[in-house]
Amino acid sequence: MRTRPLKVALLGCGVVGSEVARIMTTHADDLTQRIGAPVELAGVAVRRPSKVREGIDPALITTDATALLKRGDIDIAIEVIGGIEPARTLITTAFEHGISVVSANKALLAQDGAALHAAAEQAGLDLYYEAAVAGAIPLIRPLRESLAGDKINRVMGIVNGTTNFILDKMDSTGAGYQEALDEATALGYAEADPTADVDGYDAAAKAAILAGIAFHTRVRLDDVYREGMTEVSAADFASAKRMGCTIKLLAILERAADGESVTARVHPAMIPLSHPLASVREAYNAVFVEADAAGRLMFYGPGAGGAPTASAVLGDLVAVARNKLAEATGPGESAYTQLPVSPMGDVVTRYHISLDVADKPGVLAQVATTFAEHGVSIDTVRQQGRPDGVGKEASLVVVTHRAADAALSGTVEALRKLDTVRGVASIMRVEGE
Ligand code: NDP
Ligand code: HSE
Repeated sequence: MRTRPLKVALLGCGVVGSEVARIMTTHADDLTQRIGAPVELAGVAVRRPSKVREGIDPALITTDATALLKRGDIDIAIEVIGGIEPARTLITTAFEHGISVVSANKALLAQDGAALHAAAEQAGLDLYYEAAVAGAIPLIRPLRESLAGDKINRVMGIVNGTTNFILDKMDSTGAGYQEALDEATALGYAEADPTADVDGYDAAAKAAILAGIAFHTRVRLDDVYREGMTEVSAADFASAKRMGCTIKLLAILERAADGESVTARVHPAMIPLSHPLASVREAYNAVFVEADAAGRLMFYGPGAGGAPTASAVLGDLVAVARNKLAEATGPGESAYTQLPVSPMGDVVTRYHISLDVADKPGVLAQVATTFAEHGVSIDTVRQQGRPDGVGKEASLVVVTHRAADAALSGTVEALRKLDTVRGVASIMRVEGE
């Protein structure tokens, strides 16, 4: 057992960082045994030095993260500041000074993962980021290591705790969107700017990271088709219920059947209540991985929050510390397949479309013809007259068989031009069947 401690710089001490510091302190003896050397919290970089931080020696606090990294005795940096800058420059500075890095920063990794991996590799150092995807759930390491001998074809799941919390509250208690978002923010689940959650950017960043690792290719944030959940309404939940479904914000990553390309998308979708993802409540996440030999695997657990995320950070800290002692590094980026990412138009799935139409003879036939003309086959149609009969309008709900997204978009464009279609109330994909 080595007695000289490995020195850790904690960059950021907010929701996640404060829990990392707490666990490092309270589990110090166990961590020493598991690593084979003590790990010492050698400095904590923050923005507001005067803020009271329970359990942290005020002498460790600094606002100069760069100086902390440059002082010459740091072995490992934990970056839990978030955002692109100064996190990117600090991680690069760490590598330039022989410091391995653990990060929870999905936004940065989705944007600059390739460059950061290259910098780590060049310096012979580690870059680990289990906490960046799905909070406490071990997912990156199983994909990178445990499934490294298999071929992954599909990854589908709930990867954002905040939006799952909001959708769950809207569905189960009828809570309003803003009220549920405020609660998720107070619980420490939301990003510093929660539009990253509700507009789907956070889930898209996680999708890009997962797709890259699962398919051994490079998927950039811009390659991921993204729709947030701010448009999901109480009426959508009512429609979903009538179909025996609920609504979740899903990340879906697929290898094409010919193996020559991949797709990556994040959007709200209806899923049957019988599907395991339908019962994922509050800020929990769950991810299905489908692999050639392993078959279907499901990963489930807390997807956000200080302590769950700190658990994943600590797991990485132990792995990186062990690597340091062994004078080795863990697996780096694997992007050898270089598969192109196909556009959303190529994705094939089912759709639930809700139309406001004129309540008169022939409308149903006109709508059905429009679907047929675009090669989109209808599974079910439900027409409901307005109870008040005002304006002689009806609501028409069409659920399709599987069709290409481009064909569905063409259909909707044509439907909007029909005199008898007063409006397209909602379009939602149907997954998980
Ligand atoms: P917080 O906003 O709670 O904490 C950010 C921390 O960074 C604060 O301590 C802040 O200082 C510090 N900080 C900000 N700017 C600087 C700077 N320029 N120099 C030094 N320190 C700075 O964020 P979270 O802890 O929630 O998130 C951190 C990271 O973890 C993000 O990348 C996030 O996406 C990721 N993550 C978060 C999860 C969660 O559930 N919250 C889950 C999974 C990942 P001060 O305290 O003085 O304000
Ligand atoms: N804001 C993120 C979420 C934190 O809600 O999932 C976990 O990555």
